[in-house]
This record gives sequence, structure tokens and C-alpha cells, in this order.
Amino acid sequence: MRKVDFLVIGSGIAGLSFALKAAKHGKVLIVTKSNEDESNTKYAQGGVAVVVDKDDSFDKHIEDTLIAGDGLCDPKIVEMVVTEGPQRIQEIIDYGIQFDKDTSGVYDLAKEGGHSEHRVLHYKDVTGYEIESVLLKQIHENDNIEILTHYFCLELITQHHLGEFVDKSTKVINCFGIYAFNTELNDVEKILAKVTVMASGGCGHVYSSTTNPVIATGDGMAMVYRAKGKVRNMEFIQFHPTALYNPGEYPAFLISEAVRGFGGVLRRKNGVEFMYEYDSRGSLASRDIVARAIDAEMKKSGEEFVYLDITHRKKADILAHFPNIYAKCLSIGIDMTKDFIPVTPAAHYMCGGILVDENGRSSIHNLYACGECSSTGLHGANRLASNSLLEAPVFAHRIYLDAIAQFEKNVIPEAIPEWNEHGVTQSNEDILVTHNLRETQKLMSDYVGIVRSDFRLDRAMRRLFLLFEETEEFYKANKVSVKLCELRNVIQVAFIIIKSAKARKESRGLHYTTDYPEHAAILTDTIF
Ligand code: SIN
Repeated sequence: MRKVDFLVIGSGIAGLSFALKAAKHGKVLIVTKSNEDESNTKYAQGGVAVVVDKDDSFDKHIEDTLIAGDGLCDPKIVEMVVTEGPQRIQEIIDYGIQFDKDTSGVYDLAKEGGHSEHRVLHYKDVTGYEIESVLLKQIHENDNIEILTHYFCLELITQHHLGEFVDKSTKVINCFGIYAFNTELNDVEKILAKVTVMASGGCGHVYSSTTNPVIATGDGMAMVYRAKGKVRNMEFIQFHPTALYNPGEYPAFLISEAVRGFGGVLRRKNGVEFMYEYDSRGSLASRDIVARAIDAEMKKSGEEFVYLDITHRKKADILAHFPNIYAKCLSIGIDMTKDFIPVTPAAHYMCGGILVDENGRSSIHNLYACGECSSTGLHGANRLASNSLLEAPVFAHRIYLDAIAQFEKNVIPEAIPEWNEHGVTQSNEDILVTHNLRETQKLMSDYVGIVRSDFRLDRAMRRLFLLFEETEEFYKANKVSVKLCELRNVIQVAFIIIKSAKARKESRGLHYTTDYPEHAAILTDTIF
């Protein structure tokens, strides 16, 4: 058993930013399911959207965010994140992150879909990798922070574990920490904390094609939902329009939107540019529109990809800005300085998540959520590109201020039991877990993708229910394993996505359904 002041679940930009601040006030424990740097942050290519240029303004960034969010952003939260952002990003720069500058020492700002200005700070095309490395270096130098790697969080501990009945109508649900599976010792540990911060990232692996690393299985959202906490707007899955089309590669390799910001143009097989037929912003329209246009083009042509063309830019400039993408494409025989790049949409970002307030508080007492797993109100129905690496440090800071003001008063009950594995056996049929995961991912991609309908959602729900029943039976009878618990979480998150999609009787942002192709008259959040 371990007991700490601050427990952080996840080691991306959200968790690490909070940990570095909270460590000034108490012991911080970071628990992460894989290697310490394995997170969606590490794979972010594009960068951080933030107002630093003299020709840019908070108003423009706010407006772009609201337009992308298609009516469903919380305007107060958008203003807060955009205006507090520069200070938070300066703190990250002070940790040592070297965003690219031009020869005169001015930040080389990129442009991405939906942005009216160049405002994306980046480090070549590996911005997330740079951020993750610098933050981890700071973490290692801090004696008040410990990281446990290869620990998989199973459940939040609440009064349910003290024998009290808890459901969605319970007025105050308290979080006292987690049960975590130590994968090296094959043992479940009880970790108690005065404050728990869920920073567990996204859920791309609910789908069969995703840009996310394999750890992105929606664990935090599933855990909070099971603990009867609230989640919001989970139907809004952002499909990145341009993942590299490379059959058999899993996860899909991302071709950053910054390539389109650098002049990249989407073309049909015959070379014709098509995005102006869908939106006056052409290839730099917001992601929901571009992904839907590509989907429509692929359905018309019967091809599994369209082309991205950046060949008109100078080779030296392409290499300077996109060394990682260039090397990857070349490794499969595509020279992006001369050849079109085949691209296809892939699941990329969860725009909904654990419902939190302006200080990152979830509906469960002493549990905060930060980063992709949270729903703050910033993204609405569609996240503006590169706003997530801004949102995370802004909310990490607000959570830090809120948490340090009250954590010392939080009492952890003595009587919390150890994890109960009574009656379970070791499975020798783990392949069934793999089969059920593949089936779930396929049904989500087939029926709950870019274009939806009531018929498709019903079909998905019926099939998912069978997989749910089989998996729960398997879970009750067998010892825990990471694969089995990830499958449970994927099924749980898939269920909430379908339920939320069925509840939204309109098309808005990333949720497009042929049965209700227009906006509804009244704006609503889907909260479960
Ligand atoms: C990209 O580089 O296209 C991804 C950036 C993001 O998802 O915000």
C-alpha cells in the first residue's frame, strides 16, 4: 500500500505539468501504464496554438476556436484558455523547450486548419517529443516526484469500496486513490491519495485505424464512468484527415496538418484539387470538414486514400520543417519532395471526456481531470488544431491552484480493503481478448465513424452488447491482465460514444448523421 498527497495518472503534458507544480507542496506519485514517455503528447507533431505574434490577437484565436467548435464551446473557457495560454507556454519555454525560430530570432509560427493566423509554435515536426523529453528531465530532477512505470490503473477507489451503494444519483462521491496493477510483479496495489488527477489521455484505439499509440484505450474515461462520475460529449471523435496510407501499419503514421499549413494541397488520383468544392478555405478548412470531404471522395472513387501534394515547395524547406515525416515517407518509397503522399482519415482525438469545471474538478470529489481525457468546454464539437497542447498546461495550473488550497484537509478512511481476486483463475485463452478487441474496433470504424446514421448506431450497439457480456464474464472469472482491462475500457468507451451519438439528434462538428443532417435549434451537451 502507498499513500501520497498528489496522485497523477498518466505521463503526458497534462500530468507532468501538474506534477512539477504540485511537488512544491507535497509528495507526488505519477503512475503510468507503459514507459514514462509513452503518451499521445510524445506523438504530437504540429505544435501548440498560442497568441505570440504581433499581428495575431486573443480575439482572433477565440473566434477561430469558437468557429471550429461549431456552437458547442463554452465561450468563458475558450477565453480563459486563450488568454492564460501565453503565460503557461512561457513556463514551458523556461523549462528549456526550444520552439523553432527564424534567422532573426522570431518564432517560426505554423498555420493549421481553421486558424486565421500563423500561431502554432513547433519544434520541427516533433513538437510533442521535445515537450515530453524536457518535462521528463525536470521531473527526474525533482526529489518530491516519483514515477511508477508499467502500472495499469484498474479502478478508482470510492466509498463503493467501503461497502456503500454508489450510483449516478449519489450526491457526493469521494475519490481516495486507485487500485493499480503492477505488471512486473503481477500484483494489484492499493494507492491512496489526498488528491487524484486523471491525465490518462485519449481513446484512439476504440477504432481500428488511429494515429494514437497503442496505450490510448480510454482507460481514464472508462474508470470515471464506472465509478459513476460524469462524462460529456463523447460522440465527438476527431478523425485526422491525413494519416499516411500504408496498409498493415498500426497505429497509422500522422502527416501533420502543418504540411497543409505549409502549402500542401489535397488532390484526387487524377491530380485535381478538390477541397474548394467543399469549403472556401480549401485544404485548410477545419478538420471535421476536411475529413468528411475525403471520406466522400473515397466513397465516390472507391479508393482507400486521396493524395497530399507539397511538391511545389523547395526540397530544403520541406526537409527543414518536416524531417521526421520526410524520413518516414522515404522509408516506404515516397519522396514527398517529388511524389504525392497517399493519405486517409484516422481516429485522432477525443473532443469530449470527463466533465470538469473551470478548475479541472470532475463530478467526483478530490478527482480532477486534465488533458485529452477531460471535457473542459474548450473544444466544443470539434477541436481547433493544436489547441490541446495549450489546454493541458492551462488546466494543469488551475488544478494545481485549486488542489493546493484544500488537499491537506482531505481525509482518507483507514478501512479501504485490498483488491479482491477471490475465486478467479489464470486464463489460458487470452487470444479471445484479442479477438474481441479487433471486433470492437472494427464495428466502431464500420458503423460509428465519420458519417453515422440511426441504423448504423443501432447495429453497432447490438453487436457491442454481445462483446460486453462476453468480456464481463471473462473478467469476473479470470485474473486481471492489461490486455483484458484495456478491452473492458475500450468497450466501455465505445458504449458511451454510441450512446452519446444516439442521443444527439442533429449533425454538429464531428458528429454527422444522415438522419439529422442539420443543426438542432437548441444547443445541448450529452452528459452521462
Ligand atoms: C497535427 O500535427 O496535424 C496534429 C496536431 C493536433 O492534433 O493538434
